[in-house]
Order: sequence, then C-alpha cells, then structure tokens
Amino acid sequence: MKVKKLKGTCDFYGETIKEYRYIEKISREVAEKFGFTEIQTPVFELTDVFLRSVGESSDIVNKEMYTFLDRSENSLTLRPEGTAGVSRAYVENKMYANPGLTKLYYFEPMFRCERPQLGRYRQFTQFGVEALGAKSPYLDADVITLGAQILKKLGLTKFKAVINTLGSKESREVYQTNLKEYFTKNIDAMCDDCKERLNKNPLRILDCKVDRDSEVMKNAPTIEQFLSDEDKAYFDKVIEIVKSQDINYSVDSKLVRGLDYYSHTVFEFVYDDPNSKLDGLTLFGGGRYSGLSSAFSGPETDAIGLAIGVERIMLALRELNVFNFSDKLCDVVCINIGESTKVHAISIANYLRSHDISVDLDYVSNNLKPQFKLADRTLAENLIIIGEDEVNNNTFKVKNTITKEEQILNIEQLSSYFNIEGEKYAYKK
Ligand code: HAM
Repeated sequence: MKVKKLKGTCDFYGETIKEYRYIEKISREVAEKFGFTEIQTPVFELTDVFLRSVGESSDIVNKEMYTFLDRSENSLTLRPEGTAGVSRAYVENKMYANPGLTKLYYFEPMFRCERPQLGRYRQFTQFGVEALGAKSPYLDADVITLGAQILKKLGLTKFKAVINTLGSKESREVYQTNLKEYFTKNIDAMCDDCKERLNKNPLRILDCKVDRDSEVMKNAPTIEQFLSDEDKAYFDKVIEIVKSQDINYSVDSKLVRGLDYYSHTVFEFVYDDPNSKLDGLTLFGGGRYSGLSSAFSGPETDAIGLAIGVERIMLALRELNVFNFSDKLCDVVCINIGESTKVHAISIANYLRSHDISVDLDYVSNNLKPQFKLADRTLAENLIIIGEDEVNNNTFKVKNTITKEEQILNIEQLSSYFNIEGEKYAYKK
C-alpha cells in the first residue's frame, strides 16, 4: 500500500529539522531571559476545555477542531492552541497559590482542520508564552517586547506590529451592541460568513478577509468610541512603553483576533514586505485575557500571552536567507582496510564518540571506494585509516582531509590530536 502524509502536515528532516530546532532554541533562550519556565500539557483534552475558553463563536471551535469520542464516549479534542490547556493546568495544579506571577512557555504541536495553504497547516507548532496573575501595562509591553526580541534574535528583520485594545468586558459589551445594530442595517452588503457572525459575535465581522475593504466595513464604529477613561489610560500606557522599546508598531482599531477570550490589549506581528508572497502573514498573535481560570472553576486571573507560528517563521527566515547551517555530518570517518580490521575501527570510533567527537563509518563495506565516498559525503575533517599494520602496532593513521597531512599516531598521541583530556587510556582495543 502506498501511503502519503496527510494534507496540511509536514515531515522535518535534514535541513528543515535544523531550521525547526534553531527556532526552538532561540525562542526558549529568549523566553528564559524574560523569566519564563517550560510547561507541557497533553496533546488532547476534554472538548469542553476549548469550548469554554477559545469560545463557541470562534472559527477554531466552529469549524477547525479535531474532535472525537473515545471508547467511553468522552468527547476529546486535539488541542488547536495552547492557552486553554495552560489555563486548565494553572487551575488544576493550583499554581495561583504560588507567590507572584506564573510565567510559562511551551513549544508544542497544535491541530486545526483548516484549508491548507502557504503558512497554514493542519498540524503546526506554536511557541507560546503565558504570564498569569497580573494586570499591568508594563507586563503587556514586556510580552510584546519578548515576541519582538525572538524575531530579531532569529534574524527576522521584516516585520511590523499591529496593536489594539478591546477594552474591558463592560466597554466591549456596549460596543458589540452598537456594532450589531450597525451591521444589522448593512448586512445585505456583507458576505455569508459575516451574516452568521452577526448573531454569534459581531466583533468577529471586523476580522473578515472578504469584506475587509468594503465601505460598510470602513464606516463601522470603532472600539475607541466606547472605551472608558480607565481603558484608554491603560492602553495609552502600553503604547508609550512599547514605543520606548524601539518596536515598529501601528494601532489598528479593527484588530479583534479570532479567539473569544481576549480583553484589553491584543496584538499581531506580521511579515512586512510588499514584494514578498509572505507579505501580511501573521507570525504571531496574542493578548490579554482574564476569564479562563474562572471558566475552569479557579479564581478570576488576569493574564496575557502570545503564540508564534514556528512553520511560518521558517518560511520567513528562508525568504530572508537567514539559515546557513554547515553541511558537515561528522568530525571523523573511520576507514578499515579488510574485514579483520573492522572491530579495531569500531573501537576507536566509540572511544572518540565517548569523548564528544562525532564519528561515522561504513557498516556494510570493507572496500575503500564506498568508505571514501562516505567521508566525502559527511565532509569529515579527519579520517582514521586502519589496516593490518595499525592493528598489529596498535596505531592509527590519521589523515586531515583539508591539509591532506597524514600521521601515524598511538592512542596517546591521537588523544592529544583530538584534544581529549582525562581518561586517555580508557580506550580498549
Ligand atoms: P492564534 O492567532 O490563533 O492565537 O495563533 C497564533 C499563531 O499561530 C498565528 O499567528 C500563526 O503564526 C500560528 N498559526 C495559527 N494557525 C496556524 C495554522 N493553521 N498553520 C500554521 N500556523 C498557524 C493563539 O493560538 C493564541 N493561543 C495565542 C495566545 C497565547 N493568546 C494569548 N496567549
């Protein structure tokens, strides 16, 4: 049976796994510099975890979840995002009882049954952070700065930040009523999805890609008109701090985000190059939320977070030619002349490996040609060639593939050659 990977999924190997791990490494390092520690939550949760948090009016819950019944008829869902599971874990493990903020990060696969296209997959990885337990414009700005620092550190230069506030729950409710009235009057001019959004969550109409440039959309009321003085002062402070951190941003009152749990600050960072097919691709998004812990029967908790789409960052970094990994596969290739010398070659290979030197050898052949081909392919800097003489004298012929210099060395000399300190004599023939 010929099988293929599922649509919207990726295999990572060779160069692509190096790219993936590079992004993981830098993201972890930056998050740890900001005081975040790692959390891992299960790949699947009770479906309710996502219904109560991501929200029944979101596209994710409505159209994109991989939901199934287990053998006990429990409805389970492969996580479509990380914030819900982290909030569930925060409550379940009573992290709220710890003093101070709880700052967590994750690097994990997510699943959404979306129509696959450039930068949109059905299994993708998010690097996310969640800071739970405080409401402060300084924290909001710090999380936004963390995201910007990750992009910069990765070498991603072409991006811009779009920031908005959705205000408090009270301000938003008045705004939503107003929006509903406005769009009800104009609904005939809107797309079918917007007609549906009108009843479920009129805010989401502002996020519509189809009607984005229509007159109706342009003239829609904006949140600014409905913010309380307190909401405004909070958002102004966030912007003042973000500005001071040298982040290229703009405020867009139409940015509402696709998940239901946000209030106050929301933001997205998008790829910014009008000449690129990636222009406008959202690299990461996030915002402030407060109702998730209480949705899981914990205390009301102010929190803020973001999630970066790792595969999208890979696309952007490739476009910018940032990746430049060495093609070298190992430091040394051991070559044996004839079957009787193979064990000697394996012993020295394992001696070097145990001292952190990477070594490969040809397991199948004793002929020189394939063994030298392996050496070429791996770009090994040194070859160790073992013939009968070397076995009898307990020596090693070492050839530097760059200088072409050859030397016959005993184990002590070989250890010095490879800067091996300490247990030099641990080698057994
Ligand atoms: P989100 O905007 O749904 O937010 O996703 C965050 C990021 O994940 C997106 O900006 C994008 O880079 C990536 N992403 C989303 N869907 C896909 C897909 N189908 N294929 C590839 N990449 C994708 C959240 O998930 C929130 N949990 C973020 C957050 C954390 N808010 C607060 N804390």
